[in-house]
Amino acid sequence: MRINIVGGVELAYLLGIDIGTSGTKTVLFDEKGNSIASSLREYPLYQPKNGWAEQDPEDWWNAVCGTINDVISKSGINSADIKGVGLSGQMHGAVLLDKEHKVLRKAIIWCDQRSSAECDEITNTIGKERLIEITANPALTGFTASKILWVKNNEPEIFDKVEKILLPKDYIRFRLTGEFATEVSDASGMQLMDIPKRCWSDEVISKLGLRKSMLGELYESYEVTGKVHKQAAELTGLKEGTPVVGGAGDQAAGAVGNGIVRAGIVSSTIGTSGVVFAFSENVSIDPKGRVHTFCHAVPNTWHIMGVTQAAGLSLKWFRDNLCKDEMATADLMKIDPYILMDQAAEKVPVGANGIVYLPYLMGERTPHLDPDARGVFFGLSAKHEKQDLLRAVMEGVVYSLKDCFEIIKEMGVDVKEVRASGGGGKSKLWRQMQSDVFGTEITTINSSEGPALGVALLAGVGTGVYSSVPEACDAVIKVVTRQNPDMNANAKYQKVYGIYKQLYKSLINDYKELSKILNEN
Ligand code: XUL
Repeated sequence: MRINIVGGVELAYLLGIDIGTSGTKTVLFDEKGNSIASSLREYPLYQPKNGWAEQDPEDWWNAVCGTINDVISKSGINSADIKGVGLSGQMHGAVLLDKEHKVLRKAIIWCDQRSSAECDEITNTIGKERLIEITANPALTGFTASKILWVKNNEPEIFDKVEKILLPKDYIRFRLTGEFATEVSDASGMQLMDIPKRCWSDEVISKLGLRKSMLGELYESYEVTGKVHKQAAELTGLKEGTPVVGGAGDQAAGAVGNGIVRAGIVSSTIGTSGVVFAFSENVSIDPKGRVHTFCHAVPNTWHIMGVTQAAGLSLKWFRDNLCKDEMATADLMKIDPYILMDQAAEKVPVGANGIVYLPYLMGERTPHLDPDARGVFFGLSAKHEKQDLLRAVMEGVVYSLKDCFEIIKEMGVDVKEVRASGGGGKSKLWRQMQSDVFGTEITTINSSEGPALGVALLAGVGTGVYSSVPEACDAVIKVVTRQNPDMNANAKYQKVYGIYKQLYKSLINDYKELSKILNEN
């Protein structure tokens, strides 16, 4: 393989591709983890009904081709110098292919909540305890298995034609390499794996009426799963034969890109969803299933993850619906509207002048496992202004992350350092709120590329640039900022958090009633 030689030193380039919910981001890195070029292309999310969420896999593929071409041309490097490609992506989505390998319907993606009845079916078929014993998690609407069963129950004419079931990034792998393959971190979220043994579960697959041949070959995340084929090379600008490693689901990938590959370091990520992610050397399971236990992208390790459905999504919703002026001003100033929103929220005291926001715009996973939950502003009075609501949204998202922390700590996980990441991690104000609410130090690292960096590092491990995943992280990741909690703010937040927790309990039945009414038509 030809590798660039700069000043007598051989340089390898690694490509990380993250097929996210709002768009695909492709980043080219050198082996020191420096980002050389990056490109983002967005695509639509279809919501045909309340609580449904679908995307067109062809949109992902077009974005992948476009962004790879962009980074190669922006960087000016020869594509032959790209040693390996790593794939990351939104987890859990079901891409269904027929025997000609054509996509049968739009992919039902992670935040879709339509499959409650199928979750009951899975629990009854496998048995609640047995299901948690094998898949380490209770049946969840967010996970792939219930989405597949929904198609089986509601669109049998489509289900009968299903030959292959792939996760979003694994569909892109198929388009790049022609291989049907996946890897343990993302496949964990299909609910078809034996998580302690890191293999497909024959028991779960057959009891749900599926066939193992429908699923991809299962690899460890750093392993090479195939090579870019001729047609994909022509479309992307990559060199034919470039190795593509397993990669990882966006959370495990982001964790590798944040250095969460050793005990004691936990990450708190505010992307579309909010995630608290902890490394674990053992398979540790919450018997109530409130947090997920999945295989990590580091061989023979696992991770525990609390997920809240609408973290960054809450602020984006607020921006798009209530901050048109800020968006117009930001446009004129050529800055990100979130900067202006941060400045407004900063003027409001801790506790948002008494407004409490519940961020359940897309139902909630951790800790409630409730697809019917919905967002709430509590405590409104005539004196409140828009910035109070804005601050309440930011605080509410942090309380939802605190819910995740509480459970992870209950499971005996050691938390020495919390690393903030995701789009929300860029906001100093939001990081300080996290530090104050959690009562711990919050750090950030030298890269904000998260998932794309994580899978580029995995590509480096699979192609021999680094000897192991922790070694790869040590080579590129450094802590660059530290913020400590203000314990006065912490005391105030603790009190409001008590109300936040109580509000959901008070509303459970009303959420169910509302959902019934909405589903009547
Ligand atoms: C993780 C999860 C989200 C999605 C979208 O379980 O559902 O992280 O992968 O980002």
